[in-house]
Amino acid sequence: MSLFKRLYRWVDLRVGIGEIADKELTGYLLPRNINAWYSLGSVLMVAFAIQVVTGMLLLVYYVPDAEKAFKSVNFIMNEVPFGWLIRLCHAVGSNTMIAALILHMLSTLVMGSYKSPRELNWLSGFLLFTLVQGISLTGYLAPWSQLSFWATTVATNSVSALPVAGPGMVEFLRGGKLVGPATLGRFFALHVAFLPLVISVVIVVHIFLLKRTGISAPPFGRSDTKTPWQAERYRYQSHPGGIPFFPNYMLEDTTSICIYLAIFLGVVFFWPSMPFTPDAFVPADPFKTPAHIKPEWYFLANYQTLKIFPNELLGLTVQGAAMTLLALLPFADRSPERHPLKRPLFLALVVGGILLWIALSVWGHLS
Ligand code: HEM
Repeated sequence: MSLFKRLYRWVDLRVGIGEIADKELTGYLLPRNINAWYSLGSVLMVAFAIQVVTGMLLLVYYVPDAEKAFKSVNFIMNEVPFGWLIRLCHAVGSNTMIAALILHMLSTLVMGSYKSPRELNWLSGFLLFTLVQGISLTGYLAPWSQLSFWATTVATNSVSALPVAGPGMVEFLRGGKLVGPATLGRFFALHVAFLPLVISVVIVVHIFLLKRTGISAPPFGRSDTKTPWQAERYRYQSHPGGIPFFPNYMLEDTTSICIYLAIFLGVVFFWPSMPFTPDAFVPADPFKTPAHIKPEWYFLANYQTLKIFPNELLGLTVQGAAMTLLALLPFADRSPERHPLKRPLFLALVVGGILLWIALSVWGHLS
């Protein structure tokens, strides 16, 4: 017996690795009509892991000090061997991860997998959605460029429109009246310590909930579930006769991860300027307001909404109401029907919402 096999047997005898693999890999059965959209969750875990690893590598040379941050990022880009690659992967990765996040959210929306008994899966996912936006926003300040400085000034300014607590909240966020060195310290702490930890914990909760409810069967094709879910008692949704996670669905997950990596690396190598505007190459100057400061593409619709309304509070209220409605969707939409074509009103609302979001983003980009 080879040394490796003997080592495996020794550990297996004590930990039962074989039993875990039987239960969680070959014995973990998924709906036989499962589709590729279900692999986006795994894509997101890989995308998050890439952000964590590249972020840790950037920390080796990045200096979170208003005097030194911009120079340290330039040093990473120009002097550190492959520093440019790590930095570009981190900057592009935040964009591609958000794109994958939006697709994952949309797929669970269209397939109705947010419905009972998966309300908590949806809520934990929605929390991840806001936390990932938060980690992107706080990371944007790190290079301490004109783009970082003024985008953060605009983003934090909008909070001041909230009645009573607004101005105090802005001051708390910024660590002073204006964006300055204290803001960099706060955002840096949120970006590298607090938010990655909280996101990791919420991902674990999200997966735990998935393991407790069991994965939903897609509303298309020949389903294996005949009995509807009963609210009276807890029941794990199993899929007898379904396909094993390993090797079958892991192959699908791997394919989607490879497609994600191809797109992500395609942007890194062939469109490296994607996450940057010319202001990203100029150090922050609090006395020089650039002519056009725009947030990243995924915040453009929010930015434009604030501009449309005559007062900022109204814009913030509309956005807050839309977000609350989306978060509480499983409690508002209680019909058990999940097939999108059998929910025409809902489908029309989703398509209308997507078109509105695209229109506002394009408008925000061009304005
Ligand atoms: C870092 C972010 C996220 C990660 C790593 C993640 C991961 C996963 C994984 C691995 C699954 C199981 C396989 C699948 O259906 O894809 C899943 C399912 C699910 N996710 Fe997420 N997710 C994230 C964000 C979100 C967001 C933003 C939402 C919606 C607001 C969401 C809602 C759901 C729902 C409802 C399911 C259950 C699907 C079903 O059983 O059919 N997730 N997620």
